[in-house]
Amino acid sequence: MISERQAHMILDRLNTAILTCDPDLNVTQMNPAGELMFGTSSKQAHLKPLSALVPGQTQTFTWPAQKALESNQPVTVHDVTLKLPGDRCIKVDYTVTPIEENDDSRLLIELLQVDGFLEIARDQYRMDQYSANRDVLRGLAHEVKNPLGGLRGAAQLLERELSDRDVKQYTRIIIHEADRLSNLVDRMMGSYGSADPTAVNIHEILEHVRKLILVEIQEGITIERDYDPSLPQLHGDKDQLIQAVLNIVRNSVDAINKKGTIKFRTRVERSVYVGQQWYRCVIRVDIEDNGPGIPEHMHERIFYPMVTGRPEGSGLGLSIAQNIIRNHQGSIQLHSEPGYTRFSLLLPFNTRGKANES
Ligand SMILES: Nc1ncnc2c1ncn2[C@@H]1O[C@H](COP(=O)(O)OP(=O)(O)OP(=O)(O)O)[C@@H](O)[C@H]1O
Ligand SMILES: [Mg+2]
Repeated sequence: MISERQAHMILDRLNTAILTCDPDLNVTQMNPAGELMFGTSSKQAHLKPLSALVPGQTQTFTWPAQKALESNQPVTVHDVTLKLPGDRCIKVDYTVTPIEENDDSRLLIELLQVDGFLEIARDQYRMDQYSANRDVLRGLAHEVKNPLGGLRGAAQLLERELSDRDVKQYTRIIIHEADRLSNLVDRMMGSYGSADPTAVNIHEILEHVRKLILVEIQEGITIERDYDPSLPQLHGDKDQLIQAVLNIVRNSVDAINKKGTIKFRTRVERSVYVGQQWYRCVIRVDIEDNGPGIPEHMHERIFYPMVTGRPEGSGLGLSIAQNIIRNHQGSIQLHSEPGYTRFSLLLPFNTRGKANES
């Protein structure tokens, strides 16, 4: 038999959100996983209506509890989508169990976030595919780069021997194309210099990218900002992070065809899996546009090199962005539907320490 103290300790360490309610559907208790899920403290929620935890979705959220109360039977609903404060959308399995003890009746509510698990499985699959592709590409790159060096050197030697300007233009083409190909192989392999990690402010990065884009395209584009000024600093390579954000924003610019609205949003995301690791808090950066959206058949492959939907695209922008964000222990999520695209960067902000326990 476990003691009350042990029971509390177990409840506090569970990753499942646990709540209890009185028969009037007012919250009486909430464990720390519940506090993280609903972005409130158990003190604040105490004796407040259950419906207040998910404003705007009262019906979806309270009917299982009402049903359990009426039938005096446990009720489970799978894959319930909850829109939480801070623009968070999660999917949960939701179980309500009526408990009666010494004339005291209560409801026990368990909420298990399920989209995290699906995302982890999908992420693992993508990572396996990605590393298999990388191995093939690395071999290919090696085979392409070696003869390229010889080709370029021979063209240079030949150029020195030539006096005719008209003929020289052909050796120039060889040298130029050899350089272009070598550059392309480097970009494909993710060679963008060694990382120089320092403390960086994500808003400085976004503002830098915003200015660059607005200088490049002076009319037709609005870049809206919705920043959370309380975000902590990241530990990372500023130039690489600028490159990653720039690649995503340039795609948005292309997608809206230089006319439309792009939005930058920053938030703290709580209780989240990034890759295989659970973090209590990470920084989330959303880059949204109101372009045509990304066709569904491209979603799974879009981060692979050479996948492009544009005739003049090389299909490297997102693969480079993903490499950079992975090197920062982060991940990129995509949500797209006709008329709306959002790339979300999830970045742990204390990767040198134990971010998941911060
Ligand atoms: N915000 C967006 N809206 C619509 N489509 C997008 C968006 N972002 C990316 N895409 C699609 O994903 C494809 C891949 O993007 P990626 O940046 O990897 O390559 P690219 O833009 O084609 O070439 P580049 O190497 O020059 O960046 C794009 O060609 C485009 O079809
Ligand atoms: Mg691109």
